[in-house]
Amino acid sequence: MSFDGVSVLVTGGTRGIGRGVVQAFASRGAKVTFTGRNEEAAAATIEASGNADNVRFVAADVANPESAQAAVDAAVEHGGGLDVVVNNAGITRDGLLMRMKDDDWSRVLDVNLSGTFFVTRAAARRLMKSRRGRLINITSVVGLTGNAGQANYAASKAGIAGFTKAVAKEMAARKVTANAVAPGFIQTDMTADLGDKVADELKNRIPLQRLGSVEDVAEVVVFLASEEAGYVTGQVIPVDGGMVM
Ligand code: NAI
Repeated sequence: MSFDGVSVLVTGGTRGIGRGVVQAFASRGAKVTFTGRNEEAAAATIEASGNADNVRFVAADVANPESAQAAVDAAVEHGGGLDVVVNNAGITRDGLLMRMKDDDWSRVLDVNLSGTFFVTRAAARRLMKSRRGRLINITSVVGLTGNAGQANYAASKAGIAGFTKAVAKEMAARKVTANAVAPGFIQTDMTADLGDKVADELKNRIPLQRLGSVEDVAEVVVFLASEEAGYVTGQVIPVDGGMVM
């Protein structure tokens, strides 16, 4: 799978899964632009990529449409066009339904779902111009199964799955594929405070008996972005050690 000169935009690349995705593309020769909100963490992502010339950071809040447009513009400038968009930026604000504050609901929907929409809309024309346009949205198995205490997050992630399928149908005539990756429990900052006991209980529910790594997710993203995956579209692919099947 060659990505030489391919222009890739990754949202939320300053840590976790997004950082792993940036590295996976950069190590294969892609021109990667990534967003985030923390300059220091961004510098660490660039350093870790081992390919600083090809990797560029742009500060952007994806929940803001102008900011999403600016991120796309930066990627087009850096990569000389835009071939691949990975909507990865996401947050949680967990709480039981009856105690969930309006702001916890709306901020999660704004970042996770509206952010995915703003970036995709800003990128759509560029993806259609590309010889190999690829949209990959990071959803979650929680969007498929639901999870107590995550009504806002589950709704945002289920929304991403429906959004991805609609875009896949709209853009298929222009040879753009749109897929979603649904990680299970992946070892990142988002899951760091689960505690050992919860982590052990989780492992018992996972047929492959381990939490996932950032690389487990990044490699599936890279495959979906490859030329070889050109006949896969409109799918939600769990990367969860077999937890949901
Ligand atoms: P993380 O919390 O480690 O990283 C999230 C990234 O998104 C950071 O770079 C952060 O700066 C960025 N971000 C947050 N809000 C933003 C905004 N408004 N604008 C721009 N960037 C923003 O999270 P992690 O674990 O790497 O998750 C990445 C994606 O994978 C998220 O969409 C998450 O929902 C999803 N996911 C993670 C799972 C896990 O077990 N860690 C499981 C299933 C899905």
